[in-house]
Amino acid sequence: EFNNILAIILAYLIGSIPSAIWVSKWFFGIDVRDYGSKNAGATNTFRVIGKKAGFPVLFFDILKGWASVTFLSMLSSYELGSNQHINLQLAVGLAAVFGHVYPIYERFKGGKGVATLLGIVLAINFPAAGVSFILFLLTYIISQYVSLGAITAAFFFPFITVYVFKATSPTLIYFSVVISFLVIFTHRKNIERLLKKKENKMPLNIRNKR
Ligand code: G3P
Repeated sequence: EFNNILAIILAYLIGSIPSAIWVSKWFFGIDVRDYGSKNAGATNTFRVIGKKAGFPVLFFDILKGWASVTFLSMLSSYELGSNQHINLQLAVGLAAVFGHVYPIYERFKGGKGVATLLGIVLAINFPAAGVSFILFLLTYIISQYVSLGAITAAFFFPFITVYVFKATSPTLIYFSVVISFLVIFTHRKNIERLLKKKENKMPLNIRNKR
């Protein structure tokens, strides 16, 4: 169906909006990709610029996922809540994350997809998003590594999908596995740094780095 393809393309274009790059450049006159982990994501924006930039970027990246799944899936004629509708939501969500990681507007070099994914899971299943977030937060608080929190939450995401979301649809379970691998893949450099005990912690004052 044409509208389904349109929804997926629009989700990719929305996901592609590189808020970390644009907010840091337009409002703070720097490019987050030059400092810290050099990642174009909310974590590095918090790290490099601080809360004033970090929160808007985090909020916008979550919104990209949530809004894509919630509104773009309405373009189809599928009945809300039907299996077909949920499958389209998953496809749209994946397209948004893909856009965030490989943005068309910034030579396909984007972030790691965590905040956008949170938005998607929030839109599809609130309890599953809540449990993933708590897992992320606990790991982060204990270790002080945001990346380790994201990797841990991603690793357990398929289990959360089955046991919290109580998913039985094979598509949903495949989706959770794909998402889990994707997040671990986007964190491959973080994993290397964690193993070498060289991972960046959250606070890092840019003035010391200039
Ligand atoms: O969401 C990205 C986060 O998990 C890691 O970011 O900047 O520490 O590589 P960063």
